[in-house]
This record gives sequence, structure tokens and C-alpha cells, in this order.
Amino acid sequence: MRIAIIPGDGIGKEVTAEAVKVLKAIDEKFGRASDLERLPWGADHFLETGVTMPPGGYAMLRDEFDAVFIGALGDPRVPDNRHARDILLGTRFELDLYVNYRPIKLLDERLCPLKGRGPGDVNFVVFRENTEGLYVSVGGRFKAGTEDEVAIQEEINTWKGVHRIIRHAFEFARSHGLTKVCMADKSNAMTQGHALWQRVFKEVGADFPGITTTHYYIDALAMYMVLDPAQFEVIVTNNLFGDIITDLGATFQGGLGMAASGNIHPGRTSMFEPVHGSAPKFAGKNIANPIGAILSAALMLETLGARDEAAAIDAAVAKAVRENQVTADVGGRLGTREAGDFIAGVIRS
Ligand code: NAD
Ligand code: IPM
Ligand code: MN
Repeated sequence: MRIAIIPGDGIGKEVTAEAVKVLKAIDEKFGRASDLERLPWGADHFLETGVTMPPGGYAMLRDEFDAVFIGALGDPRVPDNRHARDILLGTRFELDLYVNYRPIKLLDERLCPLKGRGPGDVNFVVFRENTEGLYVSVGGRFKAGTEDEVAIQEEINTWKGVHRIIRHAFEFARSHGLTKVCMADKSNAMTQGHALWQRVFKEVGADFPGITTTHYYIDALAMYMVLDPAQFEVIVTNNLFGDIITDLGATFQGGLGMAASGNIHPGRTSMFEPVHGSAPKFAGKNIANPIGAILSAALMLETLGARDEAAAIDAAVAKAVRENQVTADVGGRLGTREAGDFIAGVIRS
């Protein structure tokens, strides 16, 4: 199994080191030999070479690797974030990774900021459309920098794009024995683009008679997530709304440091990364929580068909949380490296 490892920037480098440590422990435990190839792409590389993503980079990821793991991208020295756009968003778009899979699963009641809620209340998945919406960079600025400036950023919704993510959400529900799919949009205000979401959700839902469909406008969804998260099993929404609600969902799990994601095109080379960013203020201090990255590595193995290996990571993380062998953001006393050592140690034992 050949995996491209792109640690990226800031705490991305630190949490990726821990995810790699855990993948190596899995290899030892299960007698496997993964080929983990580190690629230096990120802010340092861009500032040194002027290259964000080398020519042929996307094709290389797609054709030469089974999966891609990314730490995080974003650095204050690159204010227009162009390297993140090329490396992170570019990989999502160019590899056509249309499913952004973000599980919201609380491991211990202690970590949840919602009053009286425990693991039984917070266990759902968000499917974020990942290749269109407001992220396509279609638009432009006219008379930039003047008081007459006009800035246009178009949201693109295609039937193909909307259909495939909604269908994926229903198929996931059916294959996981779940019975509820909720779609969130803003069709009351965005009466053109989101009418398409309404139409497709109804059409696809009709093909899944055993599954109850609900719809909330995205503002109400944010409220219901806080008031009654237990009602959700599968949420499907567009690119920007999915970005926002998964940071909200991460707080239910104990914070951004706990949240994992997969950027997936079923059957093709896919990319896995923690939900959080490069947290520049935390960088280099050995304080970032590596669990989001480690659980993303588990999602990667699961998607590649290594179910037992993924389950071993999940179990080791659950033990670390249970025994409070974690970083300070989730109430522990360990550093990033020590938290990774604990989880890798549990896997080896
Ligand atoms: P961020 O996720 O980097 O950090 C926000 C806050 O969340 C941090 O200050 C910290 O309190 C907490 N946090 C995040 N990760 C944590 C961890 N592993 N352990 C403990 N606490 C953690 O978001 P931001 O500050 O908005 O963005 C910083 C940079 O990262 C920006 O350049 C942004 O564009 C980029 N970013 C990249 C990605 C990505 O690569 N996927 C995702 C989000 C943001
Ligand atoms: C995420 C991040 C990215 C996004 C940024 C860094 C462009 O916030 O992966 O959630 O908005 O998709
Ligand atoms: Mn985000």
C-alpha cells in the first residue's frame, strides 16, 4: 500500500508525525508493510521554490498512490493562501473527491460542551459536497481597491454534483443500517441554486423507501444540532455549509483536535486529513491534539479495506480518551508526541 504523506504547515506537521507513528505501529502489529512517502509541499516549500504544487502533481497522487494523507495547510507568510488552494482544494477538485465524509462521534461525555449529552446523543455523519458550491473560484473583482469595487463569487450547483453527494448519503445510510437522512440548504433565500438541492433530494429519497428524510434550512440545522443532536444520523449539505457545521460538530466531540475527515471518490485514490487547520499559534509547541489526524488515518485504512487495522486505531484512541492520556485541549496533560506514543503503544501491546 503506497500512501502520500503531505504534512503541510504549522501543527499539520506535528499531528502528521503522530499519525505516521500510529500507521507504523499498525504495520508492525498486523505484519504489513506500507510505503509512506513524504512530500514536502506546503508554505516552506512554496516560499523556497515558488512552487505550490509541481507540474504533474495531481496526476502523480492519483496514479501512483493508493491514498493521500494531509496534515494541514495555511501559513500567515502566505496571506493569499494560494498554496493551500492548490494543494488542498486542488487535490479535492483535481482528484474529483466529491464526498467530504466527516463523522461527528463523541467518545466520552466529559468532552462534550452540550449540557447532559453523552456518546449516545452525538453520533452522526456529515456528507459535505466537496467539488463545487462556493469553492469553485468563479467570479472576479472589478475596480478592486476603490470605493466602486464590485466583488463576485459565484456558487455553482450542478445536477451531477448535487445528485452524486445526495445519493452517496442515502447509500451510506442504507449500507450502515441507518434510517434517517437530513438535507440542509438555504432554499428559502437561494431560490435558484438550492431549488436544485430540493428537487434532487426528493427524487433520490424516493428511491430509498426505508429511509426517513428531513430537511432543515441551514440556520435552523445549526440550532437543532446544539439543541438535539441525537435526532441526526446522516446530514448532507453543500460545500460551505458543510465546512461550517463540521467545525460546530467538532466542538461536540471535544474540539477541532478530535475531528477526522475523508475526501473520497469511491473506488479512486482519496485524501484524508483532520478537520482542523494549521493553528499557527500552537505550532512548534508540542501541544496540538493528534487524535483528529490519527482518526483520519483510521478512516483512510477503513476506506482502503483494512477494517481490522482501522478498528485497532479507533480502540486505542478510545482507550487514550478513557484513561485521559491525551493533550490539554481535551483535559489531559500530555504533549502531542506523548499522546501519539500512548496510542501507538496501545496498538503494539
Ligand atoms: P485552526 O483549525 O487551525 O485552529 C482554530 C483553533 O482550533 C486553534 O486556535 C485551536 O484552539 C483549535 N485547534 C485546532 N486544531 C487543534 C488541535 N489539533 N489541537 C488542539 N486545538 C486545536 O483554524 P484557523 O485558526 O481558522 O486557521 C489557521 C490556518 O489553517 C489558516 O491558514 C486556515 O486557512 C488553515 N486551515 C487549513 C485547513 C486544512 O488544511 N484542512 C483547515 C482549516 C483551516
Ligand atoms: C476545511 C478547511 C478548508 C475548507 C480551508 C482551509 C480552505 O476549512 O478543510 O474544513 O474550507 O474546506
Ligand atoms: Mn473547515
